[in-house]
Amino acid sequence: MDTITFTSKPNILGNILVRLLSFAILVFLARFAYFLTVRTNSCPSTDLCFFSSVHQTLAVSTTAAAAALDGGDAATSGAHLRNYYSSVFHDLIAEGYLSPGSKALCIETLAGNDVAALIEIGVSDSVGISENPSAPLVLYGRPVKQPFDNNTFDFEFSGISGLDRSTEPAKFASEASRTLKPAGFFVVHTAAKDAYSLHSLLNLFDFCTLIRSREIDGIREIVLQKVNGKQHFSGISVNKCSVPGYKHELIRNAEPLIKEEPLKPWITFKKNLRNIRHLPDMVDISFRNRYVYVDVARNYGSSIGGWFKNQYPKQNKAFDVYAIEADKAFQEEYRSKKGVSLLPYVAWVRNETLFFGISRKPIGKNEERSRGVGRVQAVQSSSSFADDLDRIDGFDFASWLKGVVSERDYVVVKMDVEGSEFYLVPRLVETGAICLIDEIFLKCHYNRWQRCCPGERSMKYQKTYARCLELFSSLRGSGVLVHQWW
Ligand SMILES: *[C@@H]1O[C@H](CO)[C@@H](O)[C@H](O)[C@H]1NC(C)=O
Ligand SMILES: *[C@@H]1O[C@H](CO)[C@@H](O)[C@H](O)[C@H]1NC(C)=O
Repeated sequence: MDTITFTSKPNILGNILVRLLSFAILVFLARFAYFLTVRTNSCPSTDLCFFSSVHQTLAVSTTAAAAALDGGDAATSGAHLRNYYSSVFHDLIAEGYLSPGSKALCIETLAGNDVAALIEIGVSDSVGISENPSAPLVLYGRPVKQPFDNNTFDFEFSGISGLDRSTEPAKFASEASRTLKPAGFFVVHTAAKDAYSLHSLLNLFDFCTLIRSREIDGIREIVLQKVNGKQHFSGISVNKCSVPGYKHELIRNAEPLIKEEPLKPWITFKKNLRNIRHLPDMVDISFRNRYVYVDVARNYGSSIGGWFKNQYPKQNKAFDVYAIEADKAFQEEYRSKKGVSLLPYVAWVRNETLFFGISRKPIGKNEERSRGVGRVQAVQSSSSFADDLDRIDGFDFASWLKGVVSERDYVVVKMDVEGSEFYLVPRLVETGAICLIDEIFLKCHYNRWQRCCPGERSMKYQKTYARCLELFSSLRGSGVLVHQWW
């Protein structure tokens, strides 16, 4: 026994050393990856902006155009890129989207290789714009404020360093639409290849129609043509939204709903949290106008501060945050947070005064008691509550949402409304406001099994688990990416 212990000691030491060394190498690699992904792409300020690599990693790894992201390694990669663009433009000429007589613009060209390629193949009236101009091919100009008159160009091109890296894609698109002649072509290269991002991009270019989309060398090439009058790609018309096939596909790829009522919901839902497939885990969320998070009734610590800020994958986007919280106890907390707009109302189906019942008397020993869990109830005269009732303003959440966000925006909603979800969700569906929501985290309140007292259900809510499941299933069935929240 003694000898074994003795001889094995140096091995343990050796193991520890090897592990420490591997750890150091890992840390180094992680930092390297961080610099590649984050430092090459500046995050537009605010504390809601975090390192998230999906999109940037894609952009960095795309073959030919990748060199463009580093500003081009002068001669060799310059020639390489010119060849690459020559072949791209040759194809576009062959297909009839570009011709030697075209007046052409390359937007946000880095070293002017795309402009040079255009001229080389005979499109002589070509120019580029960039914030780092190099005369005579590349003039000073920002993509969101092009230094040209309306209806100037027959052809505009945005390479991988253009629209993909723009922090204001909606403005980028409207400027391109403005300077393009009617029936002119806009060609964009993007690293984003899923159907969702194509759809988002088309929504931005609402003065254009999609001609074609294809893949070359790991990059998607999209050809659009300017038309007169707005196009409606997604078409939330009046109160109905169309549900394109890709949305059903996303829902099929999401985590399945929990079909059986959990006996230990507090455990099941914690586990489910780890299984959740967020939309940004599945698709590229670039090409949206704004990024918006709406937190409906819950205290800051548990949702915005803890979960959304730290855990929701944001692909490096800065989000506008709206907090809808009627309980005064939590409002101070919201007010002190930067970048959070507080709406001191309770989300409801119409504008009307409600009573926010907060029972401070224990009703039974099993009652879960905490401030703010009182249910919204319509005006009622029961005097037993009178001294504990706060008069509050309910507001029409669906109408508000339709006024604040548009279908070009990326909208995440978390809703924990103490049972009102059975009114609010149908109202969102009925008004079409549901179509504006990209992803919703919904807590459904039912008479769940209690942690404290095995075999006893919570008396706080009357709805059953089956009713909740019905709500989730019908949302998913109509194309809404909903997740079960705990
Ligand atoms: C140019 O187009 C924009 C919108 O596309 C329009 O608002 C503006 O009035 C136009 N300018 C001129 C000089 O026609
Ligand atoms: C409902 O209340 C909100 C918030 O005060 C307000 O913005 C909105 O105009 C009201 N809607 C109606 C129909 O009164």
